[in-house]
Amino acid sequence: MTVVAIDGPAGVGKSTVARRVAAELGVPYLDTGAMYRAVAWKALEEGLDPGEESAIEELIGAIRFELRTRDAEAEVVLDGFAPGPLLRTPRVDAATSRVAVHPRVRAWLVGRQREFAASEGAVVEGRDIGTVVFPETRHKFFLDAPLEVRTERRLRQLGGRDADARERLRQQIRARDERDRRRSASPLRRDASYEVIDTSTAEADRIAARILRSVRGAVVATDP
Ligand code: DC
Repeated sequence: MTVVAIDGPAGVGKSTVARRVAAELGVPYLDTGAMYRAVAWKALEEGLDPGEESAIEELIGAIRFELRTRDAEAEVVLDGFAPGPLLRTPRVDAATSRVAVHPRVRAWLVGRQREFAASEGAVVEGRDIGTVVFPETRHKFFLDAPLEVRTERRLRQLGGRDADARERLRQQIRARDERDRRRSASPLRRDASYEVIDTSTAEADRIAARILRSVRGAVVATDP
């Protein structure tokens, strides 16, 4: 069973690369950020404060949370409803990094992530996949790029171009990074077991190819 961990900060291009690697390897793709986003979205829907730990813990005890595989990709379904694009708003962005600090919420989602990958393996994207969720996998990649490059990428995705929007986005990404790196539960960090890839100059295709070479090489090298 192959589990490939792809970690890194916001806006670094993890999803495009992870999807390609998963398709090539023929295993499902799991975006764990969408799982944290789904909890945050539901909290906002219910009028809860994402920073209030006990309320969020109660919420996860009450909802039916499923991961449905569609086109080899995990889709989050909450109480029978797939929020999909509703998870990608700036309001949900901000609420998610606040929900993601709660240790019990993390432990619960990590359990679901391990379950998902248990049968067929997966390419799993997030912040703590190689450090906490699947520390035993040998396939760990940390994608990174300077804040300026990541801001430009997000700006293009959102279709904004004026200087105000750029500066606002830059501040938002920086604040999210800070929260992800500084929280005490499973902060974003990398260790020597990761292969670090700078995504500021290379195309997603080339990065995916590099990851595939590394994964296949490692698998071949340990074949009997
Ligand atoms: O990758 P993303 O932008 O969809 O992540 C949304 C938020 O969720 C981000 O603030 C980091 C957090 N997250 C996390 O804490 N752990 C993960 N495994 C994935 C995402």
